[in-house]
Amino acid sequence: MGSVRRGRVGQDPEPGRRNPNSDKRGSHQAVLPGRARTRFRTLRLEGVSRHFGTTVAVSDFNLTIQGGEFIALLGPSGCGKSTALNCLAGLLPLTAGGIWLDDERLDAVPPEERGFGFVFQNYALFPHMTVRGNVAFGLTIRRLPKDELRRRVDEALHMVELADHADKLPGQLSGGEQQRVAIARAIVIRPRLFLMDEPLSNLDAKLRLQMRREIRRLHQTLHLTTVYVTHDQEEALALADRVVLLNRGRIQQVGTPEDLYTRPASAYVADFMGYRNLLELPVVSQEGRRIIVGRAGLRLVGVAQDDSVGGQAVVAIRPEDFRVAGAGSGGAGANTVPVRVEVAEYYGGEIAAEGRTEDGGVICFRSLERVVPGELVRLTVPVERVLVFRAAGQTDRWTQPRS
Ligand SMILES: Nc1ncnc2c1ncn2[C@@H]1O[C@H](COP(=O)(O)OP(=O)(O)OP(=O)(O)O)[C@@H](O)[C@H]1O
Ligand SMILES: [Mg+2]
Repeated sequence: MGSVRRGRVGQDPEPGRRNPNSDKRGSHQAVLPGRARTRFRTLRLEGVSRHFGTTVAVSDFNLTIQGGEFIALLGPSGCGKSTALNCLAGLLPLTAGGIWLDDERLDAVPPEERGFGFVFQNYALFPHMTVRGNVAFGLTIRRLPKDELRRRVDEALHMVELADHADKLPGQLSGGEQQRVAIARAIVIRPRLFLMDEPLSNLDAKLRLQMRREIRRLHQTLHLTTVYVTHDQEEALALADRVVLLNRGRIQQVGTPEDLYTRPASAYVADFMGYRNLLELPVVSQEGRRIIVGRAGLRLVGVAQDDSVGGQAVVAIRPEDFRVAGAGSGGAGANTVPVRVEVAEYYGGEIAAEGRTEDGGVICFRSLERVVPGELVRLTVPVERVLVFRAAGQTDRWTQPRS
């Protein structure tokens, strides 16, 4: 199949292939660490930067990963996710900074000696090898005894439910099956760190959900430490213990899914986390954290997220935090925003809608009750769900993390 390729620019499809004999420690035990050796307490990235000529792909990346954690690297296209992952894998040398695995300095260790498993976005399977051959590859180059190798490959194939496809070539598999081969190939070496670069992006929505659960299950049952690259915030929230949000090579926020979802550190993070309503409004007054913003036709009370918001604010509100007010509702503690409905799309169980405010702004909201275009509705939103950030400069809107 056309999707089976040998990796991307700057990426080695199989790190171990570069120099199969590079491990000079001799014994299989040393080459292929057992479970006890695969564990580590922390993996530290300190000031990691990677430039390509004048392009700063990753800048001053600081993160401590705990053994057993599931980390998602999240951000838009070109923000440096793959570069950060490749630096971690050793496929790209660092321009600055260092990486430590407990007390061992890692960035000078060649990729094949790091004991990491890598799943590439395009799978990078060997098209001329069977499924079994692909999965066995990492063990073959480590010269594992034959029966041990067979047992381990069978175990990995069984885990990803591919035992019945072991003798097929990748081109005879569906996209989801190829994906599972790539996962089996990475986990069969019992990696100290499991790295995945947008592994589900080629799959359809249903398979993506199914594989997402599979990946989380494998992470848990194999006690893996996983770093997972995605541009899909929903995937990151569903999978990760902690999410690292990147923009233009820089970390914008590190936190639990709940942290990023409910307490985004900047308007940029809010934007990425599905706060679809980002309204630039003048500040009317502020008293402690309670802040009033707005102009004629739209006035909101919210919670200031920055110490000093200044004269102009960006207000972030999630569509699902709005409610369509019934008669008599929307009392104390809630903002009220009248809108004229312009778009109403049925999503099964709820309606995703857009309405226009009196001052001409557009508000995205959800409704459990039927609303129709042309209808005038009153939306309410609790004060604590109106997040108010300082507006950044005009040329660099919403890109500044909270200082
Ligand atoms: N080998 C390279 N040579 C020059 N520039 C590069 C190279 N690899 C990456 N870059 C640049 O570095 C930046 C970060 O790229 P990277 O591939 O890490 O982004 P990404 O977040 O993985 O994006 P995507 O979601 O599209 O895969 C981009 O501006 C990209 O053009
Ligand atoms: Mg990428």
